[in-house]
Amino acid sequence: MNVTVVGSINLDLVASAPHLPAAGETVTGATLARHPGGKGANQALAAHKLGAEVLLIGRVGDDTMADEALALLEAFGVELSGVQTDVEAPTGVALIAVDPSGENQIVVAAGANHTITQEQLWARIETPLIVQLELPIAVVEAAVGRATEFVCANLAPAQPVSEQLLRRCDLIVVNEIEAAFYGDLLHRGGGRVVVTYGAAGAVMFQRGEEVARAAPPEVTAVDATGAGDAFVGAIVVALLEGLEPADALAFACTAGALAATKAGAQPSLPTRAEVEALLRA
Ligand code: RIB
Ligand code: NA
Repeated sequence: MNVTVVGSINLDLVASAPHLPAAGETVTGATLARHPGGKGANQALAAHKLGAEVLLIGRVGDDTMADEALALLEAFGVELSGVQTDVEAPTGVALIAVDPSGENQIVVAAGANHTITQEQLWARIETPLIVQLELPIAVVEAAVGRATEFVCANLAPAQPVSEQLLRRCDLIVVNEIEAAFYGDLLHRGGGRVVVTYGAAGAVMFQRGEEVARAAPPEVTAVDATGAGDAFVGAIVVALLEGLEPADALAFACTAGALAATKAGAQPSLPTRAEVEALLRA
């Protein structure tokens, strides 16, 4: 199965701290790690590791952070011919603080992710498409408008989008916070809407009616970064393979749970074998 992801590519600078800072607070005693991230890149790698052939369209800077950000995508064989290099803007960076329970806070400096233009997109996107909201909204909307197949939008981070986009999507994935931002999203989405509740699982709705729900297996969370992206990659792969909604949700919840058991976003994305083993356990 071929999938196109139009989305962000970041270098994640992760401080594992004793606790998350409140506004104005300085927290000391953290350790720093650098990991490839960005919701687009994460979802591309997630879908790829679960069995899809993935083309990523995005933009990085002309700097060494780009090499770090693309390293795992390259190593696993995600198709990167759609990634352009911006000679002026730097590679996107996410500053992430993680506490001992695995909760995080993220600040994104979009850099080259925000200089991508519609000209960089194919005239038609003839494979299933996954988008998120870390690129300029006009580019996200253009990508969705040019898609001829299944479209999944992960409306993260939450911000206003057109009714047209909501109606065009076959699948919308949001977490609780994003769901609250969009209000009556459950009724406005043209297709299925999935709301994720972290360790409490996920629920799928269609035309406002619940059609399925699933809970993840119990795991020990280390770093929830990337869990949502693992979920998105997994649910798209599962639905495209024809799994029933409840089975697709269980598959995606398991992928998300596994990603929460390891540090970082991309380094924590599970393989198909890992997801299937935990599903059977
Ligand atoms: O969803 C997690 C991602 O959000 C991180 O990898 C970070 O880059 C931010 O974009
Ligand atoms: Na993780």
